[in-house]
Amino acid sequence: MAKPLNVLIVEDSDDDALLLVRELKHSDYALSYLRVDTPEAMHAALEEQEWDAILSDYEMPHFSGLGALKIMQDKGLDVSFIIVSGKIGEDVAAGIMKAGAHDYVMKSNLWRLVPAVERELREAVIRRERREANEQIETALREKEVLLREIHHRVKNNMQVISSILRLQSRYVSDEKSLEMFKDSQNRIMSIALVHEKLYYSNDLTRVNIKEYLNDLLGNLLKSYTMDKNIISLDISVDDAALGIDSAIPCGLIIGELVSNSLKHAFNGNKYGDIRISLRKNGDTFKLIVGDNGIGFPEDVDFRNTESLGLRLVTLITENQLNGEINLNRNKGTEFNITFKGGK
Ligand SMILES: Nc1ncnc2c1ncn2[C@@H]1O[C@H](COP(=O)(O)OP(=O)(O)OP(=O)(O)O)[C@@H](O)[C@H]1O
Ligand SMILES: [Mg+2]
Repeated sequence: MAKPLNVLIVEDSDDDALLLVRELKHSDYALSYLRVDTPEAMHAALEEQEWDAILSDYEMPHFSGLGALKIMQDKGLDVSFIIVSGKIGEDVAAGIMKAGAHDYVMKSNLWRLVPAVERELREAVIRRERREANEQIETALREKEVLLREIHHRVKNNMQVISSILRLQSRYVSDEKSLEMFKDSQNRIMSIALVHEKLYYSNDLTRVNIKEYLNDLLGNLLKSYTMDKNIISLDISVDDAALGIDSAIPCGLIIGELVSNSLKHAFNGNKYGDIRISLRKNGDTFKLIVGDNGIGFPEDVDFRNTESLGLRLVTLITENQLNGEINLNRNKGTEFNITFKGGK
């Protein structure tokens, strides 16, 4: 059985339209068609039904080929559109194709019409399949994003649960040292949970804005050590840059350890002090500085080889997770310099 072919003919001359129809009837299609010659009639025809192809004259008394093409495009339709004209030069033909027509056929060469229509129908199928494939990919991507966002949310919630459990359990602990350990662990967990919270709200779901992250992280930290801002001043200067999850979590942990060290150890006896945190991005290299103007790092302690957990974590994380370098500057107070590449 012949395949149906619905053609909209935009043509002011009945005779010319019949010539096209005669040509198309030579093909293997079962042809049905409608002739229109005004914008209004074209609108109505496009609203009424779907068309396989539009064949349009180039110049008409009340309409034009480019006008017809625009009406189709404005409706968001992608019907095979072929200009069939008596007289157009190379320039005009090029302009027509640039405007989005799929082909043009001269009325003096009407034998080209059927092959042109057939080819354009095949092309239209390919275009539709490509469009559908793209839509599927976009849907899959959106679903992946929703899922990822959901996971960040759940990871953050679960970490908050762990932190709450530690807080509840610490109520049964009376020894000061052990209480401190519980608090440190809670802070470490919260610094990771915060990354997941930031990722949940971020647009691309894989990177966090370090400025926002560090402001929140340090705010939490100060609260947990109940520091009076009039006594200890915190000077934070952080570039407005993004960090991937693989760098943000180690970075948050390191800053947590170093700042809590300054809060705990630097100002013994001397109540007033400054803590500076700076994180600067230069190309793909990040430079992190955490320093204080306190009593200074003990001469007899090798910070890369401590008995205690805090600095041991800092060196391990810097070298193994950030593939970075860490140095201690003892000129004024204590200042740790860490450089790492934040590409991931
Ligand atoms: N900013 C600082 N100013 C002065 N001394 C410091 C500073 N940071 C660290 N120290 C000294 O270095 C030691 C080791 O620090 P580290 O963070 O490894 O252990 P901690 O803070 O004592 O315990 P934790 O394992 O809970 O972190 C501290 O006990 C302290 O004596
Ligand atoms: Mg410490």
